[in-house]
Amino acid sequence: MNISDAERFSAVLESVGYKQTSNINEADLIAIVMCSVRQSAVNRVHGLVEKFSALGGPASGWKKPITILTGCILKKDAKTFSEIFDFVINIKEIKKLPAILKNKKSEDTGDYLDIAPKYSSKFSANVPIMTGCNNFCAYCVVPYAREREVSRSSKEIILEVKNLIRKGYKEVWLLGQNVNSYKDGKTNFSELLKAVNKIPGNFWIRFTSSHPKDFNDRVIKTLAVGGKITPYLNLPVQAGDDKVLKAMNRHYTVADYKNKIKKLREKIPCITISTDIIVGFPGETKKQFENTAKLFRDIKYDMAYINKYSPRTGTAAAKLKDDVPWEEKKRREKVLTEILKQTALEKNKKLVGKETTVLIDSKRDDNYFGKNEHYKTIKIKSEEEILGKLIKVKITEAKPFTLNGEIIKK
Ligand code: 5AD
Ligand code: SF4
Repeated sequence: MNISDAERFSAVLESVGYKQTSNINEADLIAIVMCSVRQSAVNRVHGLVEKFSALGGPASGWKKPITILTGCILKKDAKTFSEIFDFVINIKEIKKLPAILKNKKSEDTGDYLDIAPKYSSKFSANVPIMTGCNNFCAYCVVPYAREREVSRSSKEIILEVKNLIRKGYKEVWLLGQNVNSYKDGKTNFSELLKAVNKIPGNFWIRFTSSHPKDFNDRVIKTLAVGGKITPYLNLPVQAGDDKVLKAMNRHYTVADYKNKIKKLREKIPCITISTDIIVGFPGETKKQFENTAKLFRDIKYDMAYINKYSPRTGTAAAKLKDDVPWEEKKRREKVLTEILKQTALEKNKKLVGKETTVLIDSKRDDNYFGKNEHYKTIKIKSEEEILGKLIKVKITEAKPFTLNGEIIKK
């Protein structure tokens, strides 16, 4: 979502004549699109400020760049940062930026999601379908930083995707804090997926993020239709203990979650599943953590994004004592990573010898990397330039988090 915000922000800056530069020393304007989900991301902004404060020096004619901060910002941080940056702008208000830069008042109050973005990739596009969140999970700042849920109209989303496919894009990510509660008055998420699936062309549909409480049978049925919708799902469980889930204000039990995964696997046996986890939520006992470890062993995730709890000002959990020591959080993180390594490797080994299609997204040294339909990372060698292409590959070797492959010669 932050990348998507940055793509819209870049478009606004370009509309008033700014061009991107890879040399910070020649920048007339420095903008940071920040994330507030974890304190470490906020600290990174302070680090960047230090870096660009050291710019300049004796170079003759050097002019201090204008500095702007936008993205996901908490009110209290906005106050602090307004003393450091020339402008701190709410992401929803970036349409006003051209006027603000001219020290003028802007009446433009239109929705920032209507801005045509400057896509950062030529083959994979982020398409926000909604922004904000109504859920107030106890640990999370998003509802405070991004405010309440607002969905874009399905008509606009479909138009944007059609344009992207016409330009040759191979993948679209439908983005939102909770895509399963998407609704534009007429269309729900499942209907939106179906409509995007009907757009002609050779491309993949991905989406994130899903809240288990809103992930329903209708969506499972739509995913099972397949077509362009890829067989991969990120379903953040956050904890594998009912008491912790309740304290997190997640509105589902471990049994509810497992039941949804069961239904999903019954309908789409090949689906790959990842999750988000928080270890060391206030009050999480060793026994409660063991329940999360058990869930990990039972579900056998393909991937997991494991986070150590960090208190965020303003959230309900910030009022609780952050009583799990950092070392213990690290231990819990390690335990889950070890289980994940085993289950992911077990699954990946079954893929050796199989054929798959990979969207190549990067190159490092002599190797190309990409993701297949199941969102597995695949490494291949190629003499030809294949960046941004969909390539047929045979899997030759399995590791926990990557697969090696070779191009199938036609
Ligand atoms: N501490 C640690 N992890 C967090 N996340 C959100 N808030 C916190 C926090 N306070 C994690 C959740 C979420 C992911 C985007 O970030 O796992 O799914
Ligand atoms: Fe945060 Fe919960 Fe909303 Fe996700 S659903 S953005 S974790 S409050």
